[in-house]
Amino acid sequence: MGFAYPGAERAALRDVSFWLAPGETLAIVGASGAGKSTIVRPLLRSYDPSAGRTLLDGHDLRDLDPRSPRDAIAVVLQESLIVSGTVRDNIRLGRLDATDEEIVAAVAAADAHRFIQALPDGYDTTLRQGGAGLSGGQRQRLAIARAPVRDAPILLLDEPTTGLDAASAERVMGPLRHLMAGRVTIVISHSLLTVREATEIIVLDEGRIVERGSHDELLALGGTYARLYRLHHPEFPRSVVA
Ligand SMILES: Nc1ncnc2c1ncn2[C@@H]1O[C@H](COP(=O)(O)OP(=O)(O)OP(=O)(O)O)[C@@H](O)[C@H]1O
Ligand SMILES: [Mg+2]
Repeated sequence: MGFAYPGAERAALRDVSFWLAPGETLAIVGASGAGKSTIVRPLLRSYDPSAGRTLLDGHDLRDLDPRSPRDAIAVVLQESLIVSGTVRDNIRLGRLDATDEEIVAAVAAADAHRFIQALPDGYDTTLRQGGAGLSGGQRQRLAIARAPVRDAPILLLDEPTTGLDAASAERVMGPLRHLMAGRVTIVISHSLLTVREATEIIVLDEGRIVERGSHDELLALGGTYARLYRLHHPEFPRSVVA
């Protein structure tokens, strides 16, 4: 797939391809601006690819009802979207007919129970568009809670732990990993938290795939991924990845 934003001089993605089956996870890593978030946009049909295609169960997304890929996908994006309405309404955006029990379970998985309880009206507190009055990490936990409620076969996680401290990130990653089982997952992560276990990792640089493989393969390669990994894990023996 190739992709250029409308009016952009340079392509944001060139020759990017991948294929995923249920139960598999693709991890995308790379520097800021490399094109990681751009990869998920054709899947959500925010934009169509400029070259190539995106297939869902063998069907070109362009031939499907524009709503159908969105129905199949649960997203936790880098910029979590809070709409005006109550806390409960915001989580129910994941699936409009979700029961209160499902919402409470999802909130617990997203480590959001305690701060919601502390809001003036708990689950019935009215939030403003954009989520003013909540911290970045609180907005992110509401967005994370929508994913289990949605229960979709495809999970897109773009920096799902943005704005969370290390302990909260670890608490939400457990339930997210659980949610990934049996689904197609694409995870974009700087923190390399979930990346290790991915079926395939692709390293993007200026819109191109510069390395791809499993964690062990990429460490053995001793390139960009190995350098990134060593940055995050200084205790990792240099000789193995140098
Ligand atoms: N809506 C847009 N219109 C035009 N250009 C865009 C748009 N969104 C992103 N870009 C450009 O596309 C390139 C890739 O951006 P992208 O958001 O995919 O990066 P990223 O790898 O997700 O970075 P980060 O780690 O900071 O989230 C960048 O050069 C960026 O400026
Ligand atoms: Mg991004």
